[in-house]
Amino acid sequence: MSALFSPFSLKDVTLRNRIAVPPMCQYSAVDGLTTDWHEAHYTGMARGGAGLVIVEATAVSPEGRISPSCTGLWTDAQAEGMARIARGIKAAGAVPGIQIAHAGRKASANRPWDGDDHIPADDPRGWDTLAPSAIAFGANLPKVPKAMTLDDIARVKADFVAAARRALAAGFEWLELHFAHGYLAQSFFSPHSNTRDDAYGGDFAGRSRFLLETLAAVRAVWPENLPLTARFGVIEYDGRDEETLAESIDLTRLFRENGLDLLNVSVNFGIPDAQIPWATPAFLAPIAERVRREAAIPVASSWSMDSAEIAERVIADQQMDLVMIGRAHLANPHYPYVLAQKLKEQNPAWVMPAPYAHWLSRYRGSANVTE
Ligand SMILES: Cc1cc2nc3c(=O)[nH]c(=O)nc-3n(C[C@H](O)[C@H](O)[C@H](O)COP(=O)(O)O)c2cc1C
Repeated sequence: MSALFSPFSLKDVTLRNRIAVPPMCQYSAVDGLTTDWHEAHYTGMARGGAGLVIVEATAVSPEGRISPSCTGLWTDAQAEGMARIARGIKAAGAVPGIQIAHAGRKASANRPWDGDDHIPADDPRGWDTLAPSAIAFGANLPKVPKAMTLDDIARVKADFVAAARRALAAGFEWLELHFAHGYLAQSFFSPHSNTRDDAYGGDFAGRSRFLLETLAAVRAVWPENLPLTARFGVIEYDGRDEETLAESIDLTRLFRENGLDLLNVSVNFGIPDAQIPWATPAFLAPIAERVRREAAIPVASSWSMDSAEIAERVIADQQMDLVMIGRAHLANPHYPYVLAQKLKEQNPAWVMPAPYAHWLSRYRGSANVTE
């Protein structure tokens, strides 16, 4: 058996393999409610064979949505729709996960295919945004956010806790806090976006406080036996990478001490002009490996790790515990079957449920999707 198709256990949860579908916004919700699109999409992903399917960045409050079409978990009706999705994922043999998020100063934007930019101030579809300091992201997101008061901070932390409770009630078994990609939590940690002079800014401890307090508050309501994870941008690609990475690893150690079970290692995306090495496949793999080793915590990561050779290598070489494969799943929801064939797994079709696997394993040759 390949390393990629070996099971992975964390707390009381066991994934059937090391492949995860990372959170990917579908921009197809109405008032934060999921639609038929989400049910078909997530169930389809799970039927494809991944061990873990993480539902997209789901806002903890209306103003925490990236766009008006993002999912939410601030009402019980939203949790009902999510419960159907969690059930669909689980019935297909994958572990249902969800990412809960607050988009901070990047909120109130148009969908990517409608411009990916801030909704204009005079457009009633938009709303006022929140951030640690009144500093705009810039470029396509020029809106100046409101600097959060201490009451705002307390309210957003409580919103994360309420969303975590709803995620649990909906049947999710894996929770990911969105602490990455320039959204609210990441922007508290980054000196580019946090110039506060109170307890939530300034030095390492101040910039870490919102993230650590949110984690601790969620851990208090999320069961000990289920994985609590976070996605965190450990590097900005802004020319001060060693310093950022060292601080990020220090914070990851504190995450672990405060109950985090796994870190999904990503990029900050906190400034518009970062020099991200997109052309290098698996450019985050050595960084994920360093976080794993130095912070002594299981890690996952993504960004162009989807070839069979790379996906197998990053797991076999213990650079990470799980590999997140995003866009290849959009191209083919049964992508794990492709990987299983390429890695010469003994019964590749059986990475999928029986109603597909039985026919493909019997009459292989007529449906060899790798050719
Ligand atoms: C359509 C789309 C939506 C995404 N939405 C999210 C999201 O909700 N949360 C998140 O952390 N990352 C999001 N991402 C990033 C993915 O989780 C993933 O890291 C990225 O696609 C890189 O992996 P890949 O090279 O395998 O596609 C999104 C990516 C895509 C393509």
